[in-house]
Amino acid sequence: MHLAPRLNRMPPYFFARVAERIRAVEAQGHRVINLGIGSPDLPPPDFIIEAMIAAAREPASHRYPSYTGSPELREAIAGYYARRFGVALDPNREVLPLIGSKEGLAHVLMALVGDGDLVLVPDPGYPTYRMGTYLADGVFETVPLRPELGFLPDLDAIPEETYRRAVAFWVNYPNNPTGATAPREFYARLVDLAHRYNFVVLSDNPYADITFDGYRAPSFLETPGAKEVGVEFNSLSKTYNMAGWRVGMAVGNAEVIAALLRVKSNVDTGIFYPLQAGAIAALTGPQEWLAERNDIYRRRRDVVVEGLRAAGFQADPPKASLYVWARIPEGWTSEALSTHVLETAHIWLTPGIAFGEHGEGYVRVALTTDAETLARAMERVAQVLS
Ligand code: MLT
Repeated sequence: MHLAPRLNRMPPYFFARVAERIRAVEAQGHRVINLGIGSPDLPPPDFIIEAMIAAAREPASHRYPSYTGSPELREAIAGYYARRFGVALDPNREVLPLIGSKEGLAHVLMALVGDGDLVLVPDPGYPTYRMGTYLADGVFETVPLRPELGFLPDLDAIPEETYRRAVAFWVNYPNNPTGATAPREFYARLVDLAHRYNFVVLSDNPYADITFDGYRAPSFLETPGAKEVGVEFNSLSKTYNMAGWRVGMAVGNAEVIAALLRVKSNVDTGIFYPLQAGAIAALTGPQEWLAERNDIYRRRRDVVVEGLRAAGFQADPPKASLYVWARIPEGWTSEALSTHVLETAHIWLTPGIAFGEHGEGYVRVALTTDAETLARAMERVAQVLS
């Protein structure tokens, strides 16, 4: 069978391959503690689920949904951005609901990138930024995120020629996988460069509401002039414990939003209305529960950081995100260490190399498992590495 040559450059999604590896270990009779994917284990509150169920009982809910999402959902998203970030959005031109933000990350590249166009992606970084570029027949260059710069890209080290060629620049803070956060001055600098060199800033911001120790994450769109040069992707997956629902959003520059809608309306047919009703309830309903939920993640974070340090890793507690990013003990590669821990302790830690070559030397631990299990897992990791 003839398969598209682009598949040669695109392996199956990393976490899909991991699921197979874990199944293989479980088939030998072991129970694996999976600290890999950042899939929230706690459910959304009942009022969100009730809104979805009530909408599912309405006959009209079962027709094709709208390509642009319901007006109520777009209003709810604009309301969330106004309340949470002080960012004003036109719900008709600057907001587009997504079937989870991941599809939007890939589809926006089809809207912006042509044959051989250059996209700048962070390394380590979420794999879809690269694979989406391949799907659009573009090329990417990686921008290293180094610990000495707080895992921010060194904007001064990127050659002017690269800025000139770039059509888009991905940023992601609070960061996956490092848990790093970005100061407002970083965004101001980036917006300035985007104006000067005419590239689009693509900000991926799904962890903005998973924050600890009083930290409040900004939106890229809070930066003056940001809306002229970029869009932000966000998601209900992590903020509202709704990962399986697949509801996300693109917001910001109206031209980019219209281009993304053009691609999407030719590819998908929007979000099942009852899921939109649940999303509206989540965005417009009480928000107090998020602080309690974040406190649960914070306790887990502390257990993981302490356990990893005891096992010989170097780890700092992140101010945000669902992950602890830890430097591994000397003498291992991240892949060898993850494989050893999977096979001997039956615990899955994501090897840093999965996020790019600058992820080598690290593992990522997701906080989406209860604290007791995490503590047990860290003890087992320490045992098999000692
Ligand atoms: C992650 O674990 O990096 C993300 O949750 C994966 C995803 O969103 O696909």
